[in-house]
Amino acid sequence: RPRVLSGIQPTADSFHLGNYLGAVRQWVALQETHDAFYMVVDLHAITVNPSPAELRRRTRVAAAQLFAAGLDPERSSVFVQSHVREHAELAWVLICQTGMGEAGRMTQFKDKSSKYGEGSAGVGLFTYPILQAADILLYQADQVPVGADQKQHLELSRDLAQRFNNRYGRTFTVPSPYILKEVEKITDLQDPTAKMSKSSSSPQGILDVLEQPGPLRKKVMRAVTDTGTDVVADDENKPGITNLLRILSAITATPIPELEARYAGQGYGTFKKDVAEAVVDAFAPIRERTEKLLGDEAELDRMLAAGAAKARAVAAETMAHVRENIGFLPTP
Ligand code: TYM
Repeated sequence: RPRVLSGIQPTADSFHLGNYLGAVRQWVALQETHDAFYMVVDLHAITVNPSPAELRRRTRVAAAQLFAAGLDPERSSVFVQSHVREHAELAWVLICQTGMGEAGRMTQFKDKSSKYGEGSAGVGLFTYPILQAADILLYQADQVPVGADQKQHLELSRDLAQRFNNRYGRTFTVPSPYILKEVEKITDLQDPTAKMSKSSSSPQGILDVLEQPGPLRKKVMRAVTDTGTDVVADDENKPGITNLLRILSAITATPIPELEARYAGQGYGTFKKDVAEAVVDAFAPIRERTEKLLGDEAELDRMLAAGAAKARAVAAETMAHVRENIGFLPTP
């Protein structure tokens, strides 16, 4: 079985529709056909210095949502990144293979650091994509299911794998991105050319998986569209309607042309109402299962411990090769 690996940050109190359609849904599907490793990336989350209580809460909420969305602890290894020490260890080794210019070209770093004054963005934000490469290469992942915003980070992971293999002998599988075009970039409901984002969208622009039906419906009904009346996909002129079409198409597994035909001549109201119901129906069971899982923290922590044990076995094996190939003495 080919191997997949991916990760999600515990930087908000809920995943949003972009995380779900762009990534998590694929994770659930891929566990049927792949050897699957999925993690909550708390080491990445500390690049923005959350409070300890907030980090702990969000890490558990994130893990619970992954199980609630359908990840099966029997078929997938679901774990918390910091439970596997090798991530930090390999990150250092890969930092030493990366050029300053190469790291400085990462557009997510440029976006995130632009919020800080000159020179005051953290070094962790700068090395963030290298830690991500370590996550991927530790597990010899063949494919990495992500949204479009992770393309550049995946390129870096590939480059680092190839460079390390050339310098020190074959050590890592060179990973490929696994990106579904139709859902690679779900956009902000209030700003439909920008991606829906935990850090930059307004609350009105985001649909949270754990949100109640009332606010979800309201936000969809108030989503920014154009002044026309035709429900047709057109990225240039109708980015808002196109985003809603993609959402409804993905959730209900209905091709966009079929939806265009169904809503022909009906205006935006009926269409938006159906989008809202589809989102509510998709999210409600995940929210309910998440609440249930969070009600038994000891059991949730046990599930994560089992995931970490499976992950550690693979990570330790890769790291042993890395240590030998790079020239570290055997650990006494
Ligand atoms: P994060 O936590 O920002 O997002 C998790 C996943 O959701 C996808 N995504 C979207 N997809 C479609 N439309 C959107 N609007 C949207 N917003 C987010 C992201 O592409 C991502 O797949 N750096 C990663 C976490 C990470 C990781 C890894 C991923 C750490 N190590 C190793 C893969 C492999 C991140 O910040 O994801």
